[in-house]
Amino acid sequence: MKATAFAPVNVALIKYWGKSDPILRLPANSSLSVSLTNLGTTTTVEWRENAEPKIITENNFPMSVGLSSSASGYAALTVAMAAAAGLKLSEKELSRLARLGSGSACRSIPGGWVEWAKGNDKASYGKTIFPANWWDLRILVVLLSTKPKPVSSSAGQKLAATSPYFAARTKAVPGKIKQIKQAIKQKNFTVMGEIMEADCLNMHQVMQTQQPPLNYLLPETEIVIQAIRQWRGEGLESYFTINTGQNVFVFCQPQNESKLVDKLSHTGCVIEVRWDKIGPGARLLA
Ligand code: PMV
Repeated sequence: MKATAFAPVNVALIKYWGKSDPILRLPANSSLSVSLTNLGTTTTVEWRENAEPKIITENNFPMSVGLSSSASGYAALTVAMAAAAGLKLSEKELSRLARLGSGSACRSIPGGWVEWAKGNDKASYGKTIFPANWWDLRILVVLLSTKPKPVSSSAGQKLAATSPYFAARTKAVPGKIKQIKQAIKQKNFTVMGEIMEADCLNMHQVMQTQQPPLNYLLPETEIVIQAIRQWRGEGLESYFTINTGQNVFVFCQPQNESKLVDKLSHTGCVIEVRWDKIGPGARLLA
């Protein structure tokens, strides 16, 4: 049997960094993300008698540069594999399975705003907390470099607890999740953006103070961060977040989207800006 699935990239506003169980890929802290509409992976799986399954997979964006290709990749593989095997799994079961491939992949199964709670194997999966059409925000994907990252996030996370800031971060996350959920509920863009940006920088501080230190940011990343802050001071409001890579996700409101795309494209260090919005999650195509 054969099946094709699409799964989106998800972007965490409250990040996950560090695992309580590296085999089951259980996170040290809960996290919260949005599933995108455009950016993602399409995977076809064909089970063949007495042979390895045939898998064809394609990302519509560059891999291993901090754009979460492992999340969309494992989510698409999970949905296609299950369907091709004739299994009828619930969203929760698919999310738990995807988590075993790459932790954050469990957040690419549901659509909209997704929370991944920490907990045991049964309790730790991605769940929609607000639907995709709850709030029309735009996410600009700012590509600064296509050079693969030096250390995978799985390898990096193994050493998260060597940072003196790790324990404080995991302790603070539940409070941040509560606050950001309230901001999303009230559609308060400023509060949401400030919490998101602070959490991103907090995660990178943990990475940079691990042993050995891990720095995923490039000089170009810093240029974009400074520009976003400067434009914000001038009234053009947007907020950034960055995963394990040198590229940047920028959240903005629809009225500022084209102006920001134009300005970002003229910073002198940007290869490409893709626009995206919050979308419906992983699904079967055929
Ligand atoms: O899913 P992994 O193990 O590749 O970890 C990704 C973790 C971050 O992207 C850095 C943060 C997150 O929550 O997406």
